[in-house]
Amino acid sequence: MFDLFFKAVCGGYDKNFSYIIGDPKEKTLGLIDASISLENLQSSLDLAYKKGYTNISKIFLTHSHHDHIAYLAEIQAKTQAQVYAHQAAENRIQKIIDLKINYIHHEQILNLGSEQIRAIHTPGHQPDCICFIWRNKIFTGDTLFVEGCGRCNFPESSPEDQFESLHFIANQLDPNLEVYPGHNYGSVGHSTIAREKEVNKYLKTKDKNIWLALRAGNGKLEV
Ligand SMILES: [Fe+2]
Repeated sequence: MFDLFFKAVCGGYDKNFSYIIGDPKEKTLGLIDASISLENLQSSLDLAYKKGYTNISKIFLTHSHHDHIAYLAEIQAKTQAQVYAHQAAENRIQKIIDLKINYIHHEQILNLGSEQIRAIHTPGHQPDCICFIWRNKIFTGDTLFVEGCGRCNFPESSPEDQFESLHFIANQLDPNLEVYPGHNYGSVGHSTIAREKEVNKYLKTKDKNIWLALRAGNGKLEV
């Protein structure tokens, strides 16, 4: 009866992940990022429907880059889901899609049925980057990858903010949180904050100037 649903789906523009999460009590589904087409989400959604879940009721966007909102219009039109993004995305998403967005802020608690999702603002890669914490999982978008982090050489990027955001993740959050990134760029699909603190140079490097030099040197390696 209280069968938790969680599924990672990989594909999209460049090894993107979308994640389907379910509230086992109210049997409603949430989607982290709209990176994967409905067609390619369908087999995972069918698994959820077999467990008694209904349709996607909320879509949570880790940021407004094109690959993360690629199928937003399609999925929202089909599901009528409410859409959540950081308030810094306000002028970005609506230039691309005519859609009602619920804008959220740092440390806002969101509901998915009876489940709670904590939004953490993590600017750097983009000003509107958010990580979402649900149960024992953190969805990190392009803020933190397994063994890497999002590039910071877009015009809107801020390497200094990225350093602070990663510092926050490394030092202020539960190290046992499982890390689910926006792209499948690591040697494994997901990780933990504790593991990343051991193996990820962007979490290991504590000196800001060394970190900035490291990030600048690798600026073109990742999306
Ligand atoms: Fe991005």
